Amino acid sequence: MSAAMKLSISPGRVNFLVISLLVPLHLSLTTASIQRYFGSKTAYELIHPPPEIVIEDEFNSVQVGTFSCLAAHSSAVMRHGARYPGLEDVETISKIHNEIKDKLTIDKFQQLKEWTNSFPRNDDKILMALGEDEHIHLGQRTARRLRSLFVDEDVENFRFLVSSKQRTQESGNAYYEGFLQALMGDTEEGDMDSELSDETLRFHERCQKYIRTVDKNETAIKEFYKFRSGKEMTNILKKVSSKLGIPENLLKTENLRTMYLVCGYETALYQSSPWCSLFDEEDFKVLEYLSDLKHYYKNGPGHKITGVQSCPLVTDIFTTMDDAIEAMETEVDEEDLNGYILGNFYFGHAETLGPLYTALGLFNDTLPPTADNYQQQSSRLFRTSEILPFSANLMLILYECDQNDELLTESEAADETRETSQYMLRLYVNEKLMKIPGCEDFTCLYSHVRKRFVDLISCNFSQVCDHNDRPRDEL
Ligand SMILES: *[C@@H]1O[C@H](CO)[C@@H](O)[C@H](O)[C@H]1NC(C)=O
Ligand SMILES: *[C@@H]1O[C@H](CO)[C@@H](O)[C@H](O)[C@H]1NC(C)=O
Ligand SMILES: *[C@@H]1O[C@H](CO)[C@@H](O)[C@H](O)[C@H]1NC(C)=O
Repeated sequence: MSAAMKLSISPGRVNFLVISLLVPLHLSLTTASIQRYFGSKTAYELIHPPPEIVIEDEFNSVQVGTFSCLAAHSSAVMRHGARYPGLEDVETISKIHNEIKDKLTIDKFQQLKEWTNSFPRNDDKILMALGEDEHIHLGQRTARRLRSLFVDEDVENFRFLVSSKQRTQESGNAYYEGFLQALMGDTEEGDMDSELSDETLRFHERCQKYIRTVDKNETAIKEFYKFRSGKEMTNILKKVSSKLGIPENLLKTENLRTMYLVCGYETALYQSSPWCSLFDEEDFKVLEYLSDLKHYYKNGPGHKITGVQSCPLVTDIFTTMDDAIEAMETEVDEEDLNGYILGNFYFGHAETLGPLYTALGLFNDTLPPTADNYQQQSSRLFRTSEILPFSANLMLILYECDQNDELLTESEAADETRETSQYMLRLYVNEKLMKIPGCEDFTCLYSHVRKRFVDLISCNFSQVCDHNDRPRDEL
């Protein structure tokens, strides 16, 4: 307002300024609302905006009944940050563009007509600068929230695991950079010392039973295909074709998904994309659901083996926590302070985190999403934009708890059989506290959790993933 007042001496100029100020503002509002529906291609900080102030040591201590607990260890599994699209989407969108560009006559789609494909044409899916930022910030916030646990500790007390892909390694490096920055102020840059472990992070490529029955089995994701050609998608196709002024049979409903994904990728890269202008918010919700169906039946609760195959990761996490507890128990004399792993960080994929959620029983809707129940699923738990965006993360914090004698009644204090110390766990998903399935409270006994998941923790990967497939037609 005041800017317009000041400039009112020259009315022509004011108009120009007002328009050029308002247009981007309007655009950015639209963009902000649709950016929440990009499924697993959603930018992390848009769906989980970081707090303005991260409280130092926020996660470091908790009071549970008469026990005072201090963080003793933390394990976190993170998906890589925002990345470039894969080759298939990059090539498909060019084909779609070729199909439609000469038929676009309406001025409104000038930008789309002139659009050029600027994505890299390899299939490297490398991390974007945005993805790097997501992990720098995540590393900073974690270090700050658990500062007392991590500060002044030796690098040997930290463990960083990455997969064989550039995007997880660079996410790890970015996280490490933010982590050190927050703990020690500005430091010279240096890459972290990481372990490469596809066994724990890309188990989906090694589990034959998963590969045969789910990953390479189109029937396993039939709900996805059914919804893709169903009435909600056909309706969008009609709307989009009519907006563009093109015949309805020029595009297929599967093309809509590629256009939606490219709208997402370009929004992450350039804050806007002409492809987005083809859809309204309702369309985005439908396209998000289509993506959710794919993940639900490929990386989620849709098939039991999907969760079970995460056993190497679950085993690794719990073994590390067992070792930490054992070290704390034996560390009676202060001599042996070489210690144990305080921070255990894994950098993986949607194919890592989705199965882990599933194995732990998280986001398991009582009514499974299908092609026919879109309307009933508006408040589903399994919404990938929220649970599996880029840089999605799950963190377990192990607490060492001691009885706080001041909080005891006289008879409690006199009871010689009472526990004086115990280990407790808390779960944070995308930085929000969540109940661990099977626990009544947010803070849960470690032994209780361990017992609930013991089958997974002590599983035999080759056994659970063994797939005796004797092709029927080979008799
Ligand atoms: C493919 O998936 C369907 C549905 O889950 C299942 O019934 C079928 O046995 C699977 N096929 C193979 C080869 O495992
Ligand atoms: C998910 O829920 C279904 C039914 O509600 C149940 O049968 C299944 O065991 C659950 N999965 C996990 C891993 O808890
Ligand atoms: C795991 O199972 C495989 C085959 O099912 C078996 O050969 C192997 O000895 C088992 N490993 C352990 C550690 O029990």
